[in-house]
Amino acid sequence: MSVCSAPGRVCLFGEHAVVYGEPAIACAISLRAKVSAKKSKKTEIKPNTARKSPYVLNAVEEMRTLVGFEDVSINVTSEVPVASGLGSSAAITVATLGALNKEFCAGLTDREIAALSHKVERSVQGLASPMDTMTSALGGVLVIPDGRKLKNINCDIVVGNTGARSDTREQVRKVAVFKKKYPDVTSQIIKTIGSITCAGENLIARGDCERTGKLMNMNHMLLDALGVGCSELTALADAARKGGALGAKITGAGGGGCIVSITRQPDVTARAIKKAGGVPIKTKISEGLKYE
Ligand code: PMV
Repeated sequence: MSVCSAPGRVCLFGEHAVVYGEPAIACAISLRAKVSAKKSKKTEIKPNTARKSPYVLNAVEEMRTLVGFEDVSINVTSEVPVASGLGSSAAITVATLGALNKEFCAGLTDREIAALSHKVERSVQGLASPMDTMTSALGGVLVIPDGRKLKNINCDIVVGNTGARSDTREQVRKVAVFKKKYPDVTSQIIKTIGSITCAGENLIARGDCERTGKLMNMNHMLLDALGVGCSELTALADAARKGGALGAKITGAGGGGCIVSITRQPDVTARAIKKAGGVPIKTKISEGLKYE
């Protein structure tokens, strides 16, 4: 039996804009999905859920095409909350391909697993950038789409979960409709998010958390302008800032799900998020795909 784990992620800059070719910066977090794969007499996935199984089945098919095995039994557990903007599907896809890679000695590198996982995400959900799968496979703080590693940000990360569901497909479609209706304005917003990401990269490289936080706040407002915000997300971002965060923004698709904040006072920020009705998650920058 082969076991692999892979992390969820937060997006520090650039979600949605990354779908239109702008850069993004994402960061692997300490919440992980764990998958075991074992040669078997029939192919089965445990637990078999409508939400996750399409990713696992698709990953099995991709690996079967590559190395030609018969059947496999897959067991999935995950700490990454689903439909929350934390890249839960990518974590499961990457961990599944990692476990299959080991079980059937396919010899894929982490970058090859990232690319194959992106293919799986695209076939299951249609439009998908390489952000989640690349971050989950490679870990650390990454510039997408190049996969360039940045140094770890020098302060704490506190996530705030609204508990409301975030539907990636729906939010990505919403932005596409917006872009069709208001092409000039929407393209400008997307380009500006791209500029914020580039400026954010320089600040992260210089270790300037204060100004990185300010740019995260700006990025939040532009996501709001794209129509993917909601009152719960803004309430948690405001609460985090009032609770000492240097910056706070939506992470992932939005419409619900989570905010991410960077802070030097993680306990104070977490308490403020809780008081505003969210579930705080204190997390750390983490490694990518791990063969257990
Ligand atoms: O909410 P999540 O974790 O599925 O993240 C979606 C991120 C988007 O930029 C909105 C879409 C993508 O494929 O990059």
